Amino acid sequence: MTKIVAPSVLSLDFTDMKKELKKVEVAGATWLHYDVMDGVFVPNISFGPSIMNQVKRVSDLFMDVHLMIERPEKYFDVFVKNGAEAITFHVECFKDATEGLAAVKELKKLGVKAGITLKPGTELSQIIPYLKHVDIVLVMSVEPGFGGQSFIPEMLERIKEINSIRQSNGYHYLISVDGGINGETGPKARQAGADILVAGSYVFGDEIEKAVQSLL
Ligand code: DX5
Ligand code: ZN
Repeated sequence: MTKIVAPSVLSLDFTDMKKELKKVEVAGATWLHYDVMDGVFVPNISFGPSIMNQVKRVSDLFMDVHLMIERPEKYFDVFVKNGAEAITFHVECFKDATEGLAAVKELKKLGVKAGITLKPGTELSQIIPYLKHVDIVLVMSVEPGFGGQSFIPEMLERIKEINSIRQSNGYHYLISVDGGINGETGPKARQAGADILVAGSYVFGDEIEKAVQSLL
């Protein structure tokens, strides 16, 4: 089983960015999770490609971009140009799977990993057509938009289901879990089948190294 920790830049202290990013790397994190919010798809605004470019300049970690924006396909290119290595978009942004799968194809053409995700309240059936084609399935374990929320326990079942679909069909996507991950919920998500644990407020708290290690 793959074990990846992806600290979320959303909770990073930007006044101390270089030092904090070094700490997560030394502790064993290999990915960074970059949350993009537009104030329309979710009720919050975060940051765009130019800030990501600056983060890239001080960190070699794999850049995992989570787009919580309307019309995500309009921005694939600019994020790739600024250093994105994986891009995950929301299934809710497309009217049907034909349109959404065209977006997956576009990401492959740009040479990055393609990920699909869904809000906690969205039916799992919505992402089924994507599973054969994507590299990452991101399970949102909180309502997207803000860091620091509590893990929704029902999402453990969802992780298990996505894991069992992967096993029975021989699919190869990585399962990522995002929202409310800490020393308690992280191991539970791993046990349910998660390969990647995204964590913001837990990692960038008092003891960065300890927190990252507890998720590995
Ligand atoms: C929430 C974001 C998350 C967020 C997680 O909309 O997608 O990536 O940073 O933050 P924590 O780990 O604090 O729940
Ligand atoms: Zn995220």
